[in-house]
Amino acid sequence: MLLLFEVQEIMNIRPRRNRKNTVIRDMIQETHLSVDHLIYPLFLMDGDNHKREIDSLPGNYRWSLDLLMKEISECVNLGIRSFVLFPVIDESLKDNIGTYSYAEDNFYLKAIYSIKSTFPEIMLMSDVALDPYSSDGHDGIVKNGKILNDETLPILAKMSVAQAQAGIDIIGPSDMMDGRIGYIRKALNENGFTDTNIMSYSAKYASAFYGPFRDALDSVPKIGDKKTYQMNPANKREAMIEAELDIKEGADALMVKPAICYLDVIHQLKMSFHLPITAYNVSGECAMLYAAARNGWLDYNLAMPEMLISIKRAGADGILTYFAKDFAKMMNS
Ligand code: PBG
Repeated sequence: MLLLFEVQEIMNIRPRRNRKNTVIRDMIQETHLSVDHLIYPLFLMDGDNHKREIDSLPGNYRWSLDLLMKEISECVNLGIRSFVLFPVIDESLKDNIGTYSYAEDNFYLKAIYSIKSTFPEIMLMSDVALDPYSSDGHDGIVKNGKILNDETLPILAKMSVAQAQAGIDIIGPSDMMDGRIGYIRKALNENGFTDTNIMSYSAKYASAFYGPFRDALDSVPKIGDKKTYQMNPANKREAMIEAELDIKEGADALMVKPAICYLDVIHQLKMSFHLPITAYNVSGECAMLYAAARNGWLDYNLAMPEMLISIKRAGADGILTYFAKDFAKMMNS
């Protein structure tokens, strides 16, 4: 065995020197995360004075517009400037072709208009897919148990144009139909919305981690699963095909979803393409941490920023996350 002084003589390289105090650690920190990088998902329901907690996603609520306005104001004061809005649609308004998604009196579209009128400085992103409006709980039209691709595209386009008309900043197609980015881009352009962005859910996997979100929207598929349109979790090269198509079709940003289980996909897209890459830290990923923290098994205030910084380190420029408000509070304290 070597004596202590002998060890000291032969060891030139000691990575721990660069970790010896906070100043050095902070100076050489490679990845930084701020509220600027976060997009906060919010759930909107019709009516007044509603604030209904999502059981499987504690601390997150379905809001009616009046209370949501106050919530957004609170978030803006905490420094959050980007939001993604999802509608909770009453079962009676759902049908097989998602007609309500672009209806004249759609409360989601009206809310987009009100929110953007009250907070013109924020970035508001939408969701484009049939599932919140679909009596089948699928992202496309279902016929004889099949999800129809091309027949779904015109509905997605109508929904997108209606949202653009309402004043949305970024359209977020989450449906995974083939060709939808090009189809939506064309419809937006034809209607004069050449400045409306599209953030494509490019690599969206058929994941078990969307459970709490589907509880929130009451949008669990009535038959089958989403495996004929969302991607196989085992595949990475397919993500490249999807990303290449979205770029060609006119997407402004590419999203990977979920985030935590797909950090390698985020990294590969970041290395391969020049568009901004975003990642959706989905409901199930956040719910796992909420649950562990509630049981005292993990320290929320330490584990939460660690999860977020890992997504950033993998290569995400922006992160959609239910942690956004808690993270903003931490930054302010
Ligand atoms: C549906 C959609 C889903 C999510 C966002 N948009 C669920 C699904 O595909 O079934 C999930 C988000 C989350 O879990 O936080 N188009």
